[in-house]
Formats: sequence, C-alpha cells, structure tokens
Amino acid sequence: MPAAVSICSGDKTLKENNVLEFYVNGKKVIEKQADPEITLLTYLRTKLFLTGSKLGCGEGGCGACTVMISKWDHINSKIIHYSANACLAPVVSVHGCAVTTVEGIGSTKTKLHAVQERLAKFHGSQCGFCTPGIVMSMYALLRNKTVPSAEDIEGCLQGNLCRCTGYRPILSAFNTFTDPCAGCPRGQNCCKNAATDNGFTNGLNGEDVVNGKGVSTEICFTKYDPTQQIIFPPELLMKGKSQHIEALKFTGERVTWFRPILLEHLVELKGKYPDAQLVNGNTEVGVETGVKGRLYPVMISPSAVDELRSIQMDKNGVNVGASCTLSELRESFDSLRKLRPTAETQCVASIIEMLHWFAGDQIRNVAAIGGNIMTASPISDLNPILMANESIATFRLHSRAKDRQVLMDQSFFPKYRTTCAEKGEVLLSVHLPFNGKDEYIKAYKQSKRREDDIAIVNAAMRVVFHPGTCKVLKFVAAFGGMAATSVMPEKTMQNMIGRMWTDDLIDNFAEWISEDFPLSLDAPGGMVEYREALAASLFFKFFLYVKNCLVERGVMDEKLAERDLSALHEAAHMDRQLKGKQTWQEVKVEQPPLDKVGRSLQHVAGELHATGEAVYVDDIPQCSSELYLCLVTSIRPHAFIREVDVSLASTSPGFVTYVDHRDVGGSNNIAIYHAMEEVFATEKVTCIGQVIGAVVADSQARAQRAAQLVKIDYEDISPVVITIEEAVSEKSFRSPIHKVVKGNAEETMTSCDQVIEGEVRTAGQEHFYMETQVCLAVPKDGEEMEVYSSNQDPEALQKTSSAVLGVGQNKVQVRVKRLGGGFGGKATRFLLLSSPVIVAAAKCGRPVRCMLTRQEDMSITGTRHPFLGKYKIGCTKEGRLVSLVLDLFSNGGNTQDSSMYVMAKAMINSDNCYCIPNMLIRGTVCKTNIVSNTAFRGFGAPQAMFIAESWITAVAERLGLSTEKVRETNLYRAGDLTHFNQVLETSNARRCWEECMKISQFDKRRIEVDAYNSKNRWRKRGLACVPTKFAIGIKEYRCQAGALINIYTDGSVYLTHGGTEMGQGLHTKMIQIASRCLGIPVSRIHISETSTTHVPNGGTTAGSLGSDMNGMAVKAACDEIVSRLAPIRKKFPELSWDKLILQAYMERVSLSATGFYRIPDMYSNWDVHTGTVKGRHSNYYTYGAAVSEVEVDCLTGDHVVLQTDIVMDVGKSLNPAIDIGQIEGGFVQGYGLFTMEEPLHTSNGRLITVGPGAYKIPGFGDCPKEFNVHLLGNSENDKAIYSSKAVGEPPLFLAASAFFAIKDAVGSARNDSGLHGRFRMDAPATAERIRMTCGDRFVRQHRNHATAEEDESKTPWAIRT
Ligand SMILES: Cc1cc2nc3c(=O)[nH]c(=O)nc-3n(C[C@H](O)[C@H](O)[C@H](O)COP(=O)(O)OP(=O)(O)OC[C@H]3O[C@@H](n4cnc5c(N)ncnc54)[C@H](O)[C@@H]3O)c2cc1C
Ligand code: FES
Ligand code: FES
Repeated sequence: MPAAVSICSGDKTLKENNVLEFYVNGKKVIEKQADPEITLLTYLRTKLFLTGSKLGCGEGGCGACTVMISKWDHINSKIIHYSANACLAPVVSVHGCAVTTVEGIGSTKTKLHAVQERLAKFHGSQCGFCTPGIVMSMYALLRNKTVPSAEDIEGCLQGNLCRCTGYRPILSAFNTFTDPCAGCPRGQNCCKNAATDNGFTNGLNGEDVVNGKGVSTEICFTKYDPTQQIIFPPELLMKGKSQHIEALKFTGERVTWFRPILLEHLVELKGKYPDAQLVNGNTEVGVETGVKGRLYPVMISPSAVDELRSIQMDKNGVNVGASCTLSELRESFDSLRKLRPTAETQCVASIIEMLHWFAGDQIRNVAAIGGNIMTASPISDLNPILMANESIATFRLHSRAKDRQVLMDQSFFPKYRTTCAEKGEVLLSVHLPFNGKDEYIKAYKQSKRREDDIAIVNAAMRVVFHPGTCKVLKFVAAFGGMAATSVMPEKTMQNMIGRMWTDDLIDNFAEWISEDFPLSLDAPGGMVEYREALAASLFFKFFLYVKNCLVERGVMDEKLAERDLSALHEAAHMDRQLKGKQTWQEVKVEQPPLDKVGRSLQHVAGELHATGEAVYVDDIPQCSSELYLCLVTSIRPHAFIREVDVSLASTSPGFVTYVDHRDVGGSNNIAIYHAMEEVFATEKVTCIGQVIGAVVADSQARAQRAAQLVKIDYEDISPVVITIEEAVSEKSFRSPIHKVVKGNAEETMTSCDQVIEGEVRTAGQEHFYMETQVCLAVPKDGEEMEVYSSNQDPEALQKTSSAVLGVGQNKVQVRVKRLGGGFGGKATRFLLLSSPVIVAAAKCGRPVRCMLTRQEDMSITGTRHPFLGKYKIGCTKEGRLVSLVLDLFSNGGNTQDSSMYVMAKAMINSDNCYCIPNMLIRGTVCKTNIVSNTAFRGFGAPQAMFIAESWITAVAERLGLSTEKVRETNLYRAGDLTHFNQVLETSNARRCWEECMKISQFDKRRIEVDAYNSKNRWRKRGLACVPTKFAIGIKEYRCQAGALINIYTDGSVYLTHGGTEMGQGLHTKMIQIASRCLGIPVSRIHISETSTTHVPNGGTTAGSLGSDMNGMAVKAACDEIVSRLAPIRKKFPELSWDKLILQAYMERVSLSATGFYRIPDMYSNWDVHTGTVKGRHSNYYTYGAAVSEVEVDCLTGDHVVLQTDIVMDVGKSLNPAIDIGQIEGGFVQGYGLFTMEEPLHTSNGRLITVGPGAYKIPGFGDCPKEFNVHLLGNSENDKAIYSSKAVGEPPLFLAASAFFAIKDAVGSARNDSGLHGRFRMDAPATAERIRMTCGDRFVRQHRNHATAEEDESKTPWAIRT
C-alpha cells in the first residue's frame, strides 16, 4: 500500500501519494519506486522495453524521443493530447496521464497506423532513427486536428530533425492528410479520395505503386479513419471528471519531487525549500540535470495548482498564470485577439508571432511562461516583449502577508540568469497591459536557423506617441543577446522622447544603441559586430513598420519608398506549402513485373522504422551481468599526463573498474588508414576530448557520475595550434605535401588575359547522425568476443579489436544490423569508442555497453575537414580557363586518421566540372590540437569543388560576364583529359547542365530576379546554376566486395554482403538485384545484418560504392547458384521455385554460394612529390547540376530557398525512389554545410557548438519551398551493376547552388550600397556572414565605440578552425 502523508489544507484533507501510476499504450503502469531523476524516455526504454522512442540528444533538440501525452484538463474539462520530449519529461511528471509511444499506434504484426503506412510508402525514412519521433509528432497533431493544414504539419514538425531524407518525402507523406490532398499532384483525384472500404484503390499491394511520373504520384494507402484511435483510459477519465487530483511526493536516491495541488501548499514548500526548483516543463532544468549533470535535491511541480494555470482578461489587460504552457498561451491569445480591437492586442499578437519561432511543439506543449521568465536567459524570447510592454509580475512568499508586484523593467533581471525574486518567492502570474491606439509594439528574432533555435539577437520595441501625432511620448525597448541579461537601452529610450518619427532617427538610434550596448570582442556568444549591426537593423525595420502604420492612419504624409517596403516583408509570411516534382525514366514495358530492378521499391525496413520495431544497437535488451562504460577524456589541448587519480571515482556508487592503456591485452596502438593512433593516451594528450581512460559501472548514470570524479593532473605543452592559419605559421603539417601537375600552370599564367588571385574557406561540418556512436561487446568462450556496433567498417573493427585484445581476427565476431546514420562519421572514429568498450569487456569478463551522449559524441569524434583554398587563375578575356595554381590546406586535427586520403580526394575533384589545360595543385594537411577530423560524405570533394566554384565566380566577376556563361564555356566534354591524366571516356556534364537550365527556366527567371531586385532594397533574390562531376573510386585495394547467399529448403533466401545499411537503401537494392538474378519475388529474400563471420574482409561502406561493388558480388553469388540449379531446372522446367530448391536439396546440390567482385583496372601511380599521375584513379563519374533561387533579408541575413531544380545522372537507377532520396537528403545536408553549419571552437580548441541547441542542422522549414529532382534519362554506365551509378555522395555538393544564389543576392545588395566588384564570401553563408557582407550603412557603423587597443587585448569567444 502506498504510504500516505496527511496534510490539512482548507476544508480538504489531501494525501500525498507516492506510487506512480500512469498508462502506456492503453496499459496501466504502477511504479512503487519511482525515481524523480529518471526520465520518461529511460523508463520506457529500460523498464518497459519500449525501445521505439529513441535517444538522439537528451536536450529536447531533435525530437527522436517524441511521445504523445494525454490527460484530463480539469480547467477546461476536456481530454488533451500533446506531443512531448520523453528525454526531458521526468517519469514522475506523467502521473495520471496516458502516454502513447510509436509502438502503441500500429505494428507490422497487426496493422500500421495511417501515419506509419504513409511515411513508409512515401519513402520518408532512410536510416529510420528519427522516424518514430516524427511519426509521433504527426500522430499527436492528428489527434487534435483530423484534417490539418500544411502549416499545421510543418508547425508540428518544427521540433524534429532528420539527417537523411531532406524532409521532402516526409512532408509529401503527411500532406496527404490535408484537404484537398496537398501532397498529391492529382489533387482531388488523389487515391485518398478514391479509397474504397478496404482502403486500397486499385488492388496494388504497395510494392510497385510508382509509375515514373513522380515518387508520390501513384502511391495508394489505407484511408485514414480518425475514429480508430487508442481510447483515453476510462479510469483516468472518471478520475478527471470527478476532479480527483492528488498531491504527490516521490523520493528517489538523490532527489525528492513534490506536486502540491493547492497554492498555499506550493508556497509553503518553496518557503521550506527555498533552493528547490519549481519545475513546469522541465525544459530548462531538465537540460541542466541531464546534459550538464546538475543535482537539485528538491523539485516542486506547480503544474497542478489552478491559480497558476489560469489566463484571465480584465479591463486593462490579461493576467497569465506562471504555469501556463506556451501552447495554452498561444491558443488563449488567439481567441483573445478575436475579442478585442487590434490596437489593444498588439503585444498579444507579437507574442503569438514569436511563439511560432519559439522551440518546437514538444517544448511549447510543456514549457511554461513562468519557466521562461524565471530562467532569466539573456536570449529569452518572451522577456523582451514582456519588458517592452511594461508587464507586471506578481510574486508570493510564504512568510509575507501580501503579494509583491514588480514591473518587468531592467531591474527585474539584475544579472546573468538571475531575477529580482526573493529567496522562496513563487512567481504567480504576469500581467500584460493592453496597448493604446497611439502606440505600436513589435518583436523580432534572428537566430542561426529560423525554426526551433534560440536567438542570436531578439528585440521588442514599443513606441507611444502624443495622441494623433508622430512625436514620441515614450519609447520602451528590450533586447536579448546584447548583454548578460535581457536588456533595455536606457539612454536610447530617454533620447527618443520628444523626437519626431522621421528618417533622422535611424542613424541616431544606431549610434545611441551602440553606446547602450557596448559589446566587447570577447562577449559570450561571439558575432559581436553582427549583433551590433542587427540591433540597428531591427530598429530600422521597426521604424519603417511604425512609419507605415502612421502613414496608413493619416498621421504622416510622406509614404515609404516602394523599395524600402521590402524591409517589412518577413519569411514568416511566406507560403509554406511544399511543392516538388520527382521524375525519372521508367523501366521498359517488357521488363517482367517480378523484376524490381529500376523500380521504386520501398525501403525494406521502412515499416520497421515507422513502427519503431527496427532494432539499433542500444535497443538490444540488456542482460543482467551487463556493465556500462563512460569515457574519460582530456580537458587540455596539448599536455603531458602527470597523474590520473581514480580514488574518489572508485568510491562512487556502482563503480566497477577504471580501464586505461595498462589494461590493453594486445596493442594500445591501432592503425587507422595505415596511421597509428593510441586507444588510450599514455603519456601525453594532443587535443581536448582525447580518450585517456574509461569508468565502468553498473549503470549508465552511475558510470557517468563516477567518470566526473576522475582527477587528472596535466602539464601543458607549447605550442597549441588550433587553426589552419596557426598551423601554416608554425609549419605544423602532415607529410608529404601532395602535388598534382598538368601542363605548366606557372608559365602559361603569364600569357593569360586576366589573372585573378584570391582565397576562400569552408568550415567543418558535424556529422550529426541521429544515432550516436554505440558499441556493445560481449565476451564469449575463451578469447572470443562478439561486438555489436554502429559502424561503416566491420572489417576495421574486427582488425583493431583483435589487435587490442591480442587475439586472432577469427576470435572476433562483429555484427552490424543497421546504423542510425553514418555519413562517414562511423567509417573510422567509431574505433575510439569500440576499442575501450572491448578492453573493458575483456577485463571484466562481462558484457559492456556504451552509447555516447550527443554531447560526448560531438565533442570527441571530429567533423568534416575545414579547408582553406588559395588560388591563382588565369583565363582568356572570353572567360576560357587556361591555368590554375591552387593551394589547398585542410585542418586535420590531432591524428592523421583519413586526412591524407581526404586531401587526395579533394585534389582529384578540385577541377569540379571544368577543363583547364594547365594545373598545379598542392594539398597540405595541417596538424593541429583539435579533435581529429575525419571522413564525411564527399570526403573532401565538396570542399574542393566549392573552392572551384569560388574561383570560377571570381573569373566571371572580373570579366563582367554571367557566372553561368563562364561555367558553361569551361564544362568538360567526353575525350577531355583531367588533371589526373585520365581521359573522360564519356561525359554527361553538359547534358545535366543543359537540362537543368531548361527545366528550371533559368533565363526567364534570371530576368525576373533582376526585376525583383531593382524594385526591392532590403530583400534580394539570387539565382545560380552549379554543375558537379564526382569521381567514383577509392584506393584500389579497397575496391573489392563479397557476398553470401544461403537458400533454405523452404525456398527462402538469406542474403548478406560486406556493406552496411545506414539508411542509403543498400540492402533494398541488393535484394532487388538478387531477385532479378534468381527470378523470385523480393519477399523471398532477407538480409538480416552485416557480419564479419558471414562475409570476411568486407571493407568499408564508403565512397558511394556500396551498391556498385556489393551489387556485383551479390550478382556473382546468385549467378553461381543459378548455374548450379540450371541442370535441375532443365530437367524440371515446370517446377516452382520452392520445389526446385527442394529438388536441388534432394540431389545434394550446395545451396550456399559466395560471390566476390573487384573493380577491374583500378590502379594508380601518383607520385605526390612530382605531381605526376599514371593509372585509373576514377572508375567513372557521376554528374549533376542544380539551379537554386533564394530570397535574402539583407537587414538580418536570413534567407529562404524558394526553389531548387536538380538534374542528376545516376545512370540507370536501380531504385529511383531511393536514389531521389539520396539526392534530396544529400542536397539538404550540403545545404547545411554551405549555409548554416559551422563548428566553433574556443581559442584552446574546445568545441563550443555541442548538441542540437548550439549546433544547427537544417530542419523541416529549411527544405526548398519548391524542390524538383529529375534523373537524367538514357544514361548508360558499363562500369557498374546494371548500368547504374553511385549516388550517395555526389548530390551533396549541388547545395552549393544555394550558396552561390545567396552570393548573387548579396551582390545585388552590395551594388545598392555602392559596393561594386568582386567580394569574398566564405562558406557557410550564415545569417551573420550574409548580413555583414551586404555592407550597408548599419554594417559600416559597427564598432564605432570600441577602440582598436581594447579589441586587441581580447580573445574572441569563438574561432574558426
Ligand atoms: C529544445 C529547446 C528549445 C528552446 N527554445 C527556446 C526558444 O526558442 N526561446 C526561448 O526563450 N527559450 C527556449 N528554450 C528555453 C526553455 O524552453 C524556456 O525557457 C521555457 O519557457 C522554460 O519553461 P519550463 O516550464 O520548461 O521551465 P522549467 O525548466 O520547468 O523551469 C525553469 C526555471 O524557472 C523556475 N520557475 C518556474 N516556474 C516558476 C515559478 N512559478 N516561480 C518561480 N520560479 C519558477 C524554475 O525553478 C527553474 O529555475 C528552449 C529550451 C529547449 C530545451
Ligand atoms: S532525444 Fe529528446 S529531443 Fe533529442
Ligand atoms: S531517416 Fe531521418 S535521420 Fe535517418
């Protein structure tokens, strides 16, 4: 029986229940030992074994853990359903609620929910790790709105990330729920509307439903029946209706959690525990306790106290209870706006608008306004609005008779993350006054990513005029991101009083505000010049907005110039209805229906992804003896390790052992790409994040806590080299410096009409695979070790494990079922986790598991290589390229890893698509004290091709020609010689280019863009077409693959090969190939996993060659079986497959065969010292071209991709849906690389941009508004399986079209500012870089106040490596 504590409160006796009760997927859960420290996600995954919900970040930033929570809302007397992040919700917070997880809504064993079915059928999953969370966000929306709009759908997905798909197929799938069916090009003729009772339109079974007109055109799916949902548990309904709410108290090992139900009790508790956290949504506190490891022994949830949950209107304004969630606020404010005159509710409107850009639904559904105010974040989105509107906060203290009312002004936030609340005070509510007719208020926010991102700068400004005039009576403004608190520009506010609202205010304001907000160069958050420019720019927007209102009201005469009106347009007002078309060449009509090669077969694991049934390493059930490992890593960039002290850690509860280099049975040095690396640092560390040791404990939480207690004494070493520039100055390079020579570049340069010199940089890029690095090692008999790991190279894992253990490779079995994304990040760096895990398992003789937290993963596994390119390009006056001298520098980090190979690939691709008779390229890898950088989709090629596009743009700018003209002039033709001394036997570069220009109507749109730009001063459009030629080929010894086929006596086929499935659809394509070879349906063939036991020496799945090589190996294995079966087939031509196999068995024919393939003629002889090359470096090339059009907000640096058209040559596609998925996903990942993502470090090499909160990858809202993909027809390729081409990496670079379109738009803005001619723009084109490059008057005024000496003494907060 639950222990009950009686508390007398008013006329009721309330019992504090300490037994946690809630429902999960319709089943009641009773937990008598509820621990407030455990999150709902951990509980679901480890106690209830519901592993569909995934851990992607633990900080509310990715949505992989999304579940739906339903409860009785006793204030509004209704059941409410909302999505929430299970990684932030303490399990105790769901007492009395019903939780629905992805497993609860549908299953492959019973029936898929419509959301799951459509997502799978529309090819909306690749690796599938994000899929359950995305399904649940959509499901929660449908529970609230059975026919949502496209905006609703995009809104509900703001809190979800996917790194694979590029989002388009997911949106297409979900838009089928809108009315009219927006996702279907057939509109009202959509299958959905024609669906029959059994749900299918025309008898198609969902396997072959695409006809070549578009991936989504002919997809049929079950009719959605909203009445068939899990019901809200009757017990909870009855309790809710009877107003049965309990006070709660849960006591865990370290934390006590209270949930009072009366205000008096809440205030009393806070008085008793003044340091207790009042937790509403736990979205702030949860990140502190989870990711940052803070401990708050007492937590009090005020969410059941009615007084704090009410929103009440009075004659002066609206009073909002502190525990009202942001979603409730938005809903109430929406209603309120309809009730009151527009002028009165301007602040309300600003809050509604701001909430659209505030986090995602999962956060807004649980986070409270009180939590936002009391967190006192300097970048709170609501506080500036509340301050500008002169809102009043009401506090209550247990020991004080009267409530305290406080104006939310500057003194409300005396210092960083501190409010004026007295110890023990509870914030009850905040009162927002209505606005008058002579006042205007507006709020702004600029962040790195438009959606679900914290602000760089936000602001709310309110002006009150003398009645009927444009003379300022009062000006109240508050800014976020300009100081350690939300801050009011007090001098500016004073100066504005009495001023007329005329243009002279603009420059005055910019000057005053820079005095009010003196940002020093080392200010936290960095970007100081941008932030200063933003503050002035946002005022300019506000100024124009108000002026426009005054003109419309007839208070002012002078209208805004038409060109200036563009400053008032916001991306927010754009139509977010996704458009897109995917087209490809159909298979020939004579191809038998059974033969699936060339058809859009759904990803074989698509349904498993959508139902959460797909098993990833961390979903493997724990066994009772299992231990958990936590890495101990360096906190110094370059130092000797003097001493490691584990004494305190060893006393920590659950501690089992500490492992380091002394525990390595074999060798502590492992070879990665032939370069040696230590598993555990022995004597010295060369970067922050280097692995020194690891703590093993009986649980994850305990391992992490103990690891914090390991003390390491260091002795620093000089120098510390962090950036490429520092490495160049210190000559800190890896040798040899690579060189490649074609013709004589230096000499021919002298005869060129024009020679242009310049340099440009590209940043690194975090892989951000949704599943972090994970490994489970299970010791077996004797020296055997079974290793489950999410990695792209099981062979390397087997080799290194055997080296580390000191046993033969035959004792190590590596098993890889699937990866939750890899992108090159799991090609080598997984070894830094797997090796310690294996050492620990061997030492303990027990299974050991570790899944890195997102924060650990980002801090220690490295990124794409940042590159610096210094070029000198010579050309004729017509724009024909003659000579190129190019120096490429990459930042390799502290170990060699794959850096030399990445540089080589960069050099091979540094011509992009252009034929230049004379080239001299030098490639230098810098050795620095940051975490080793590594392989990333494209392997250096995107960086080099970006540099190529920069020099070709420079040529066009110098010659005054259109960039497209110069690009076209120099495109390769078949028969041209590359700088790698290889003749291009075929070339589809021009075909892709010409089709892309035509399909996109480039010439017409160029005229429209120019016309738009001439009419708009502050919003500019840009257009660019960029080609690509991607060399397919890796080091020759790696160009081999194996496969194994086993046929069982029931005729079912088990297939396996050396490649790993990481979302790219490799297994699906392999099954298609085997199905064609064997002439049996794909449903008879199964691939379970990649295992070193089944296929030895399988190599790495990289270089886009997975399908090319494994496909051939699969074919060879199948052909072998077919030839063995041939005599029997001849004897019994009528036998079905099953009977044929049985007959073969009876005749003792072996039904198991292996296949092997090596790419013929791949050899290279590159003398990197002289630069001469012989051999075939590339097997063939994949071509493509993309046109992108963007719109840039020149005042903020924000931009939107209006349209992208891609033409891609993938030969004869093995599976158009999968290939288009690779193209769209690659493009959006490349879009992140070139426009948004930028790892930032401190000056001593610590990565700052850790976790999805700090590091932004593209979200749903970043998908081009119109996204068209066309696969080039009639393309043959005799170098790969069934004439297909590699597709994984080549499309990524095409996102550079968005970058160069942005550059085009920025060029127009610069022209308007009188800045003509060539200008440098590095990648990524972040909002900061765009804004600062626009170069108008607000930018030029920056840092007037700061003296040069002051700045010189400061170290910037962040640097680029
Ligand atoms: C993924 C993510 C995205 C985010 N995006 C944004 C964003 O775009 N803009 C933004 O401004 N913020 C953002 N945040 C920050 C955070 O979500 C908000 O500040 C939110 O409003 C906090 O509310 P909560 O109820 O979850 O706070 P909690 O974590 O529950 O509490 C926060 C703090 O407030 C105190 N507190 C709460 N209620 C009271 C009360 N009644 N009296 C006294 N003290 C109280 C608590 O003690 C605690 O210190 C984001 C957070 C995450 C995790
Ligand atoms: S794991 Fe919960 S949001 Fe990322
Ligand atoms: S499918 Fe979305 S992250 Fe892989």
